[in-house]
Amino acid sequence: MSIKLRLILSNIAMITVPIILFLITSFLLMIVFLGDIREMATFLPESHNYHKTKQEDTIFFLELKEKSAVNPVELMSKEYLKSLNNVLSEIESGLIIRKNDEVYYLTRELENIRTDELPEFGTEKSFRSLEEIGEQTFAIKQHDFFLKDGSKVSLFLMRDASPWNQFVRTFFPILFGLCLLILIATNGLLTYFVSKSIIKPINQLKKAAHFIKNGNLEHSISAARNDEIGQLTQAFEEMRIQLKESHEIQKQYEDNRKELIAHISHDLKTPITSIKGYVEGIRDGVADTPEKKARYIQTIYTKAVDMDHLIDELFLFSKLDLGKVPFEFERIDIKDYLTDYFEELSFDLRKQHVELHFQFAPLGHYQVVADREKFKRVLANIINNSLKYMDKDKKELIISIDSTDEDVEISIADNGPGIPEDSIPFIFNQFYRAEQSRNKLTGGSGLGLSIAKMIIEEHNGMIRLESTLTVGTKITIILPHHSCSEEATS
Ligand SMILES: Nc1ncnc2c1ncn2[C@@H]1O[C@H](COP(=O)(O)OP(=O)(O)OP(=O)(O)O)[C@@H](O)[C@H]1O
Ligand SMILES: [Mg+2]
Repeated sequence: MSIKLRLILSNIAMITVPIILFLITSFLLMIVFLGDIREMATFLPESHNYHKTKQEDTIFFLELKEKSAVNPVELMSKEYLKSLNNVLSEIESGLIIRKNDEVYYLTRELENIRTDELPEFGTEKSFRSLEEIGEQTFAIKQHDFFLKDGSKVSLFLMRDASPWNQFVRTFFPILFGLCLLILIATNGLLTYFVSKSIIKPINQLKKAAHFIKNGNLEHSISAARNDEIGQLTQAFEEMRIQLKESHEIQKQYEDNRKELIAHISHDLKTPITSIKGYVEGIRDGVADTPEKKARYIQTIYTKAVDMDHLIDELFLFSKLDLGKVPFEFERIDIKDYLTDYFEELSFDLRKQHVELHFQFAPLGHYQVVADREKFKRVLANIINNSLKYMDKDKKELIISIDSTDEDVEISIADNGPGIPEDSIPFIFNQFYRAEQSRNKLTGGSGLGLSIAKMIIEEHNGMIRLESTLTVGTKITIILPHHSCSEEATS
């Protein structure tokens, strides 16, 4: 149930319950002051007074009044008065006629009444009023008139109101108190339930917000309902999850940055330290023979080249990371491109005793959009790794191209040492070098493959690595077809 509906219902209940209670209380009050439920009919508008015809006593009283005006002599005759007994017992009333302060006529039921306490002449009432007469309470209708001889006659139509009256008088305070109690209880309970269903989840939200304020993003809240607060809780929870995720990403970036700085400082410090050592060796005369000096200088040169390479890679890496490297995309046939590339490389590869195998399907759609120079950089990084980490006497490189409906897949596989399975997920991370490479004298900064990945991603492509320890490593580059990449860029 929505909060809106709940509030509407509780408001309706808060209005209707007191109204019902008010009606009950008024009803009881009427009885107290009028003495009889039936008298209420006279207060109702004509059209609603269904009981009017049933008010025989009212009609009877009117008849008596009329008689008193038209034929008072007959009215005062004892026979006539006795003849009224039937009607009187039907309407459960008694009749007293007082003439000049003396009781003239009195029905049997009223024999024990203290007639001296009856209302005085001239206080006529055509509706019933409650009067205490002696110990009893009566609902009395009174009609006063004069006889021809000037006698003052009062006619009292009386009904014993004691049972109702007694009941109401005794229980009225209790009933009133009960009404009040019901009223307070209804309002109290409704307020409690409505506020509980609103305040409890709001407090939960407040607590959760407090946790977030204090930097704790682990505290989750669940929405038990689907009302407005439930939706708010849901939205809050989604916000917390997003905040947590972006917090984690932020932390990851921060860690990466720190790691990057540590790596750069370390990778630059190492060659500089050895350059410093060799220069000191020459300066202090440790390199005392021309051969030694030449070896020292050669080492210094190699270290400087390493540093140059590292700074180059770092520079390219950070420019790629910042998206500041301009790409010159053009449509190329990757099969022709690779054939030319390996043609150029064949001399060097032969020198290193590497066997090259091509597995190009002769027919195929090999048109891609690529930046020639950057793609060369990718291939160089991959092939350099294959050559650098190669540990077999019979060195093999298998270059293959495959084509699907959407992509061109270029694979470069070697028969090198392979990469341990637990290192594979991190191999494209910046500065990551598998444990076995770190210990070798192969050199390298661990940026080669991350640069390759960034360049391939700029081509809207993908790069993945499969490797089996001692068997070899295969790197696959997936590039969209020329037509597909045009669609994607247009
Ligand atoms: N063909 C391969 N055979 C075996 N291990 C490889 C091969 N290619 C990559 N690796 C492993 O992956 C790591 C990451 O390679 P990457 O090219 O990114 O860095 P690097 O070669 O160490 O340094 P850089 O290329 O920057 O000079 C390497 O250190 C190596 O452990
Ligand atoms: Mg490398």
